[in-house]
Amino acid sequence: MLEQPRIWSPDSWRAQPIQQAPRYADAAALAAVEARLHRYPPLVFAGEARRLQAALAQAAEGHAFVLQGGDCAESFADFTANVIRDTFRVLLQMAVVLTFGARVPVVKLGRMAGQYAKPRSADQETVDGLSLPSYRGDIVNGPEFTAQARAPDPTRMESGYFQSAGTLNLLRAFASGGYADLHQVHRWNLGFVARSPLIERYRDLAARIDDTLGFMAACGMTSQTTPQIRETDFYTSHEALLLPYEQALTRVDSTTGEWYACSAHFLWVGDRTRQIDGAHVEFLRGVRNPIGLKVGPSMRPEELVRLVEILNPDNQPGRLTLISRMGAEQVARSLPPLLRAVRRAGQSVVWLCDPMHGNTISTAAKVKTRNFDSILAEVRGFFDAHAAEGSWAGGVHVEMTGQDVTECVGGAHRLTEADLGARYETFCDPRLNAEQSLELAFLVAEELKARRIDATAAAAQ
Ligand code: PEP
Ligand code: CO
Repeated sequence: MLEQPRIWSPDSWRAQPIQQAPRYADAAALAAVEARLHRYPPLVFAGEARRLQAALAQAAEGHAFVLQGGDCAESFADFTANVIRDTFRVLLQMAVVLTFGARVPVVKLGRMAGQYAKPRSADQETVDGLSLPSYRGDIVNGPEFTAQARAPDPTRMESGYFQSAGTLNLLRAFASGGYADLHQVHRWNLGFVARSPLIERYRDLAARIDDTLGFMAACGMTSQTTPQIRETDFYTSHEALLLPYEQALTRVDSTTGEWYACSAHFLWVGDRTRQIDGAHVEFLRGVRNPIGLKVGPSMRPEELVRLVEILNPDNQPGRLTLISRMGAEQVARSLPPLLRAVRRAGQSVVWLCDPMHGNTISTAAKVKTRNFDSILAEVRGFFDAHAAEGSWAGGVHVEMTGQDVTECVGGAHRLTEADLGARYETFCDPRLNAEQSLELAFLVAEELKARRIDATAAAAQ
């Protein structure tokens, strides 16, 4: 018997089993917030999501590279211009370096302006015999270990909406108002290189970008004459975890009559909520935005092919991004069968490497951290797997911040476990700090360049 496809609607997820959903005590208060959000203006416009999908389609076809990055969890307390500006600035700095390495456009996607909801491995946290609901991100409850803070509060969704709107407004102003000028971003990079203990290694790449910009200026391509130098496209993304919030912001696009999730340009399903019949997959399959799916080591090839069919039934390039997060140890073994299965099924996807979530470790003092070397090793393993399978390694997805935190160990400044106490500020997973993020971009750019040269040599033979 043929399976009848379920009819999709913005609330059809409610009939499916759901993981990671907070339990709100007051159903009427929840419904009231949902009704208000439903009336508020959308945060993004469907035309922007389509433009992002077109850019991602280039990455699906091997003509663009994607940089997705930002906080593990944005926090309501860090809602300041400086925090937003610094993360944006480091992402732009990374993108310039990666563009030079890959020689293709870099699609910039912030984990910003809405990355507030977190999946947790346990529903409850117990401290000194007291059990309270786990912290699930500022859009759900508060991080403080008190019964009051930890009770899921629906009015936090409204705060999340307004903070997303404020963040997005500033990001749009930065992207088009002159702050993102390529010359300025390059000057910041020169400052980074001058401070880095690895100055010798990075100087060459930075000098070549310098020459290129000088040459372009001599040819008349300056900030005044060329909008591509003065401005940039920057998109927002977050995990589509808190479905009452996402549903309330889902709207019909008046130009096409299609449904769009209007809380961000791009939404993804996490590794813990990707069940084929689950609520999160059901919700995302019906919105027309470009979407992502996290792919961890427990994913089986046939399961992935089925999920891709469900999430991208028309096989549109750029619609679906698969975000591999295997761990440095696992990537060589776990990723190739998945790349092969997707290729054999003829499915068009963008492949990104998230080298963070498979490399989280706990120190002897029980502090969550990640080692810079493991992060880089996973990215290299990801590139190797794609080279062997003949597919395009489409980009990277990182948890990072523009602040000078001490959360991940290693890197050129050789942060050790003993340094973690100094500025360990994350509410969730450990992030690369500004210097570590840029260093990763320089090292990935070197890899991209070397592989480009190898590929050119192979083609010439
Ligand atoms: C995340 O991206 O913060 C996350 C929770 O990742 P994953 O779903 O891959 O574990
Ligand atoms: Co995380």
